[in-house]
Amino acid sequence: MSAPVSDPIACSGFTRRNFLRVAAASSAFASISGLTEAHLAFAQRPKFAKPESGIHIDANENPLGPSEPARAALAAMIPMGGRYEFPIQLELMEIFAKQEGLDPESIMAYAGSGEPLQYTVLAFTSKDRPLVTADVTFEAPWWAAASNGAQTIKVPLADPKGAATHDPKALLAAASNPGVIYVCNPNNPTGTITSRKDIEAIVAGAPKDTVILIDEAYIHLSDATPCLDMVKDGKNVIVLRTFSKLYGMAGLRLGFAIGRPDLIKKLNYFGQNSLPVTTIAAAKASLIDTTLVPTRKKIIGDIREENLAWLKSNNFEFTPSQSNCYMVDVKRPGKEVIAAMAKKDIYIGRAWEAWPTHVRITVGTKAEMDAFQKAFKEVMSSPVSSTAGLTPEPLHQRMRETPFSYLS
Ligand SMILES: Cc1ncc(COP(=O)(O)O)c(C=O)c1O
Repeated sequence: MSAPVSDPIACSGFTRRNFLRVAAASSAFASISGLTEAHLAFAQRPKFAKPESGIHIDANENPLGPSEPARAALAAMIPMGGRYEFPIQLELMEIFAKQEGLDPESIMAYAGSGEPLQYTVLAFTSKDRPLVTADVTFEAPWWAAASNGAQTIKVPLADPKGAATHDPKALLAAASNPGVIYVCNPNNPTGTITSRKDIEAIVAGAPKDTVILIDEAYIHLSDATPCLDMVKDGKNVIVLRTFSKLYGMAGLRLGFAIGRPDLIKKLNYFGQNSLPVTTIAAAKASLIDTTLVPTRKKIIGDIREENLAWLKSNNFEFTPSQSNCYMVDVKRPGKEVIAAMAKKDIYIGRAWEAWPTHVRITVGTKAEMDAFQKAFKEVMSSPVSSTAGLTPEPLHQRMRETPFSYLS
């Protein structure tokens, strides 16, 4: 039985989880490119972008930032900033485990969910065990697979003009022996939901030793059915959660990998770290605040729905999002629209190679989305042909060294 959460030193995990044992192992992987949304958004940001000005709806960030209780908890933790304080990291995982009815051994905290995403791909793919993903989807796993010498097999979303969901049959048919099948639900960049039934079909139909990586970064913003119970049921799944989206902590960095303890142990090989005490305090305050998820889901959802209604009334086509992002079909090269919007100091998200005439829009504040609507209408009613503004500066170029060619 787990020890009480209020007694973190006595947490069941403290002695069993050997936090420091694996630290040295990670140095062998220094050259691995672990790309996050921040890298991908930054890599496409035009050279005239001034980070301190303009409207940035290009990286699926939450403009509300951390909640008030999270900010207070963070500030109160500053005096402890001289300490490593593993016990509070364990306490945070214990709290989440208790809330979700999980074994604490099945949870590991990281500086964002991008890290365990990358580690899962590294741990379970190889040159003989490919990664299978939808297309379009979050590209970070593709780069992790490439750096591991593993092939990525991309499967178009089913019904791309409609529900734009993961296609279970096609994903299962894509490879005979995938190491990882990645399912992003809600999907980045479309914001669309894949049904629980379809995810169950993927889990049930995959080879016994294939790991299904279920990325629930945006789950709190949607009505999608979470899949944490699959972990409890001993399935071959790793679920990712992050504090970067609904909780507004992208810059503070915290995420969880949740999976059977034997699967989580395989990620440990790639590294564990002592997380910032301030971030942990903010995360704890966010988790225990029972009003935060419904309040923010409504704030962001209302702005999204207003924006989608405006697009519809102006005859634009878009994906039926339940998240803080969606794709709009601009019916011309997306990068031209990105550059034209940037000239108006409004930075929208990228286009995907498979959907070159769509651009991703992140839901910002009401004022930001009002400004977006005005500028977008102007841009879409005038011919645009220049992509000159997308030329990256040297710093941006460095971040584009991996295959970003379709952005230029
Ligand atoms: C689908 C998805 N997964 C994971 C991440 C990683 O986020 P973080 O590392 O900030 O938790 C992101 C970031 O945008 C994302 O969109």
